[in-house]
Amino acid sequence: MKFKDSPVIELPVRNSVLSIEQDNGSMHVGTSVWPCSLVLVKFLERWSSSSSSSTPNPYTHLFNFSGKRAIELGTGCGPAGMGLFLLGLENILLTDIAAVMPALKRNLKRNKPVLGKMLKTSQLYWNNVNQIKNLNPPFDFVIAADVVYIEETVGSLVNAMESLVSDNGVVLLGYQLRSPEAHQLFWELCERVFVIEKVPHEDLHEEYAFEEADVYVFRKKLLAVTTTGECLSQS
Ligand SMILES: C[S@@+](CC[C@H](N)C(=O)[O-])C[C@H]1O[C@@H](n2cnc3c(N)ncnc32)[C@H](O)[C@@H]1O
Repeated sequence: MKFKDSPVIELPVRNSVLSIEQDNGSMHVGTSVWPCSLVLVKFLERWSSSSSSSTPNPYTHLFNFSGKRAIELGTGCGPAGMGLFLLGLENILLTDIAAVMPALKRNLKRNKPVLGKMLKTSQLYWNNVNQIKNLNPPFDFVIAADVVYIEETVGSLVNAMESLVSDNGVVLLGYQLRSPEAHQLFWELCERVFVIEKVPHEDLHEEYAFEEADVYVFRKKLLAVTTTGECLSQS
């Protein structure tokens, strides 16, 4: 796994290399690069380019990026969002709290030659329903990596994911257990609203995967109305 404590992290994606500058001394967690974002990008890279391989690709459905809208929550320095942009998710909006915006924008500028343009950003606090509404949901993809670590923010995070993703869309999550309390509440709430698919470890990128990191794909549980008018939730 190529996660390092050095001030600059290099993330190769296809034929490009993202160079992400961290500020590990800052008091904001978002000014560091967190490893699940790298695991998420490299997992997607692995399967986005496997058409030439003889292995059947169980993830082709995830790569229908054309014309799709995406949003990242808790983008931090931008590794996941920039990586996914390079994989073809071109209409992506990167969001975080105000204090992290300077680090994100600095990294977007730093990588502009590789990305070819400045990616879109917006402030978004997960508990701010007006901000969520103003972003004009739904989005086809909601991306999040290493965002579950404070129990108090878990409820608003899951609400934000649910409000932002379209009925047919997916949430792509890079996850590592950071706090047992946040972990328990997060999965309890997610199970109520999402159908959860965990990517098998052997499908992750072998150089970037590590035991504690997982990738999940969430889809909304949709209500089906029976002929008697009863609402059934998809399990
Ligand atoms: C551990 S960092 C992960 C950053 C980035 N996704 C990565 O993997 O490198 C968590 C991110 O979530 C953001 N965050 C935490 N609480 C938030 C909230 N209530 N609303 C919006 N963003 C939040 C932080 O500012 C930070 O950028």
